[in-house]
Amino acid sequence: MIRKADAGDAAALAELAAVTFPLACPPGSSPEDIALHLQRTLSQEKFSEYLADSGIVILVLEEGGRLDGYTLLVDRQPTDPDVLRALGTRRSVELSKCYVHPDHHGRGAASSLMRASLDWAAEQGSDSVWLGVNSQNAKAIRFYEKSGFTRVGTKSFTLGDSVESDFILEQALTAKG
Ligand SMILES: CC(C)(COP(=O)(O)OP(=O)(O)OC[C@H]1O[C@@H](n2cnc3c(N)ncnc32)[C@H](O)[C@@H]1OP(=O)(O)O)[C@@H](O)C(=O)NCCC(=O)NCCS
Repeated sequence: MIRKADAGDAAALAELAAVTFPLACPPGSSPEDIALHLQRTLSQEKFSEYLADSGIVILVLEEGGRLDGYTLLVDRQPTDPDVLRALGTRRSVELSKCYVHPDHHGRGAASSLMRASLDWAAEQGSDSVWLGVNSQNAKAIRFYEKSGFTRVGTKSFTLGDSVESDFILEQALTAKG
């Protein structure tokens, strides 16, 4: 089942993020940088903040009362100059996070979450969806390309105290609502 997360999901989301975020990091990432990122960006408190933000929606994939995946979408004008340059004047929702528990990789769960996320963005009247993905995360890049995204630019990403290189991918939305 895919549904919108609510305030009661913050603890389970932080637990899922602690398992799935390290899988998205480049092989040489230090455990300290990963821990710092989890603490600064993916803690229970941070998820509570995201869930209270009217410009953000979190979709969760739930099975038997357990959260197995989530996406976090931001319907707000980006501020990163590299992203603005890549997107031009298009109104674009950011797919800021897309994570599935490893037990569910390769089973279609990610595609279902992606479909629901694109539908949500289309319902907001967005022209497109964009995302940043680590340039070394081949598995995620393949998944996004299969899902219809193409590369439109590059940007940097701060992981703890390190700066990483991200690709910016975008997908146009044709059907609205
Ligand atoms: C990125 C991510 C969401 C993609 O999910 P996924 O389930 O691994 O991706 P896919 O749906 O492409 O599945 C992987 C493989 O299983 C196969 N598969 C997909 N659905 C299937 C199904 N219903 N039945 C059988 N096999 C299936 C796919 O064909 C794919 O094989 P391929 O890569 O050779 O084409 C997931 O790998 C993940 O959470 N990774 C860690 C976090 C991360 O990197 N997130 C992105 C941050 S930007």
